[in-house]
Amino acid sequence: MTVRPLITEEQIASRIDGLARDISARLPPDFTIVGLLTGCFVFVADLIRALDRAGVRPQVSFIRLSSYGKGKESSRLVRLTGDIPEIAGRNVLLVDDIVDTGRTQLFARGLLREHGAAQVWACALLEKPARREVEVSTEFIGFSIPDVFVVGYGIDYAEQYRHLPYVGAID
Ligand code: IMP
Ligand code: MG
Repeated sequence: MTVRPLITEEQIASRIDGLARDISARLPPDFTIVGLLTGCFVFVADLIRALDRAGVRPQVSFIRLSSYGKGKESSRLVRLTGDIPEIAGRNVLLVDDIVDTGRTQLFARGLLREHGAAQVWACALLEKPARREVEVSTEFIGFSIPDVFVVGYGIDYAEQYRHLPYVGAID
């Protein structure tokens, strides 16, 4: 399987600095990042350091949801597979790798509200607007991409390719 480069390391880095500036301008100073494992881990690691450069020092935690399995197609049934961090009364920035159908974000937003989050914003490195099935408003988006299956920069296909420093497409 070949990976066709789509977004370079340099493009990702400079976009993340822009996202950090947008986030610092729009969110209250004290908030908690809740990353959606596993795909977000590289993005969160770079985003929090860009936020630090922008003068923002959020708390960081993660939740693990599951919908995909090993294939390229979502099962569309999202469930929580671990614990929820203490977020009652906190402002939360939900961070995901990709918004595809939107079901993961919709489910995660509901979960955070049920657990008492004060206000919830969402940030995703990538979105595929053509694939949206439910309405979600992601306040901070890195790149809009066409309907291709992407890997790299933390994002996998069957647990492979997470190590790539760039985002690429596979067929
Ligand atoms: P949604 O619930 O359909 O919006 O899917 C979101 C999740 O599906 C993302 O967090 C990813 O984990 C996964 N996903 C969607 N598109 C891709 C892709 O192109 N490559 C790898 N994972 C993807
Ligand atoms: Mg995911």
